[in-house]
Amino acid sequence: PVATRVKDLLGKMTVEEKAGQLNQLTGGAFTGPALNDAGQQAKMQMVREGKIGSMLNVIGAAETKAIQEIAVKESRLGIPLLFGYDVIHGFKTIFPIPLAEACSWDLDQVQKNSAVAAREAAAAGIHWTFAPMCDISNDARWGRVMEGIGEDPWYGGLISAARVKGLQGNGDEKHILACVKHFAAYGAVESGREYNYTDMSRVSLWNKYLPPYEAAVKAGAASVMNGFNTFEGIPVSASKYLVTDVLKKKWGFNGFLVSDWNSFGEMVNWGYAGDREEAALKALKAGSMIDMESKLMIEYIPALVKKGKITVAELDQAVGAVLAAKFKLGLFESPYKFSDEAREKNTMFTPENRQQALEAAQGAVILLKNNNHVLPVQKTPARIALIGHYANSADDAFDFWIAQGDAANAVTLKQGLETVWPGNRISFTPGYLADGSSTNALIDEAVAQAREAEIVIVNIGLSGKLAGEDRSLAAPVIPEGQVQLLKALKATGKPVVAVVTAGRPLVLTAIEEYTDAIVYGWILGTESGNALANIISGKVNPSAKTVVSFPYAVGQIPVYYNHFQTGRPVETDGKGNWFSRYRDIPREPLYPFGFGLSYTSFKYEGLKLSSNVIGRTQPLQVSVTVANTGEFDGEEVVQLYIRDHAASIIRPVKELKGYQKIYLKKGESRVVSFTLRSDALSFYDADGNKVLENGAFTVFVGGNSRDVLEAGFELK
Ligand code: IFM
Repeated sequence: PVATRVKDLLGKMTVEEKAGQLNQLTGGAFTGPALNDAGQQAKMQMVREGKIGSMLNVIGAAETKAIQEIAVKESRLGIPLLFGYDVIHGFKTIFPIPLAEACSWDLDQVQKNSAVAAREAAAAGIHWTFAPMCDISNDARWGRVMEGIGEDPWYGGLISAARVKGLQGNGDEKHILACVKHFAAYGAVESGREYNYTDMSRVSLWNKYLPPYEAAVKAGAASVMNGFNTFEGIPVSASKYLVTDVLKKKWGFNGFLVSDWNSFGEMVNWGYAGDREEAALKALKAGSMIDMESKLMIEYIPALVKKGKITVAELDQAVGAVLAAKFKLGLFESPYKFSDEAREKNTMFTPENRQQALEAAQGAVILLKNNNHVLPVQKTPARIALIGHYANSADDAFDFWIAQGDAANAVTLKQGLETVWPGNRISFTPGYLADGSSTNALIDEAVAQAREAEIVIVNIGLSGKLAGEDRSLAAPVIPEGQVQLLKALKATGKPVVAVVTAGRPLVLTAIEEYTDAIVYGWILGTESGNALANIISGKVNPSAKTVVSFPYAVGQIPVYYNHFQTGRPVETDGKGNWFSRYRDIPREPLYPFGFGLSYTSFKYEGLKLSSNVIGRTQPLQVSVTVANTGEFDGEEVVQLYIRDHAASIIRPVKELKGYQKIYLKKGESRVVSFTLRSDALSFYDADGNKVLENGAFTVFVGGNSRDVLEAGFELK
């Protein structure tokens, strides 16, 4: 058994070798600041001396094999290395950014996408990825919002679990280990600014932020990454409450942990440790393990053990978890099984993988607005004016987390539309510059082309390069130059379709009056242009629904559907004063959570509950009739929300508790049924205990979180 093998090996290791297992250094590339990087030769010497247990950013079958050989053949105990890498939305074949992928509400597809990413990465010698990111975020300013699951804790948990299952599969050499990050509550960083402080109550932590991490851990994730943030005034890498009490004890997690890049070392900057040695001590005492890039473990563990500040038993717990993962992966028997050059050649960027990426991208595109059924473009247009620098720039269609994706292989919107409508029907002009700003000359040229066309398609938004780590923005808005461009185009009288590409939900209020249709195209990966063209032309009917609220204005952020009622939800004095609102903008987001149009329309009626009083063991049956009342076959995400009207802690105005993605032919209708169990009516107290309280509830069903039918019941 693994436990015996771990114990035997620990018995043979020196304290220095044990510290080595907790030391992780980067290979060539940097995904964080270069902190006195030792250089490749020095690192290889450390591998020989057993002073490195894992590496990140070492890629390729040949390279991982060469380094693994040093570890296995030249180090005293021959302990194999683990190779980790950020495989965030694909390895070579790039899928939609995780936030967009989540908008498909298609768990099977999400799992398959992760499995493709894992297969490609594993063939390049990668054992382990730093994904999925399970951070709930309500803040479009935060650059990492692109990597996540949106704003709902329950749905975020389903998506996170599907990603873990897809990545890890059956644990063979065609899959990779998952890493649940950034534990915990990193998505709540103050003002959406990367590497910042987080402050919240334990009831918020338990009810809103922890559920997706827990779901991913329960799905069997092998590892967890500490965040950069703080919780209750303590950098989370040193939070005994989070790492030991919650993760290990309450959830029974027995895998291994890794810090984020230098998050152990940064405890000194936070002012939580007087020096690096104290930081190392605090991280280990909390139950954290591998040190990514701080080099604290390798430098200070021997001294800490000698001084008696860390016991060998404490050290062995951490090292044992890392060794166990290596044994379970079979690396001691077959250290090179992931590094297979023939498999590497055959596995990458195959037509099947691209097809999967195309389907994923199509499933992620959200139709936000479609006045007068301007879309789909049904008859072949004689002339289309395609405008927008990003429509012709594969580079801007890719974000920072593209692993080994190659922009040269990405399909632009221009190429996608030219495939759908060949024969020089499409005129193209950039309309704005790479940074999103524009000039009178560029706008004039765009207007001239629009006048010649039947329809104007304008790709606006932000470059993909502005999505990802260290890409917080104070104002996630459509750049002013693009707004002016749209205004001028709208004045031509031609129908204007805005295709917005960005790695976050941008504030779209300024473009509403200048657009007939808005297609939200996120950052869709390799097949981006084909997916968008298939949607615009109607080859594919859009079915995605947003998993984040689209803010009405920057000052409305954070904005989320599952907010609280407040003590003054509505006008209080009968004269329009004294209630919780903004004086200058609506309280509601521009587009709510769960929203997304189809080319067809759906009608909801006949919401029925099996009873209006239920007991704790008796589930409630909820049914509704959904009819496709439009002109196309299409898919709809039928969503069920609840509200708990009075409880021992205040509860959100709505909470998603169920959904079904259904396909209805034109004219077809169906009764959709849900079983609502009492567990869905419970919540967490401040200690993380589930509480179920009697009282009045409302159930809501609809095609988004705003437009719903409702009925009440009581739990007795
Ligand atoms: O995995 C990432 C993490 O999400 C942010 N900092 C760097 C890590 C490794 O690249």
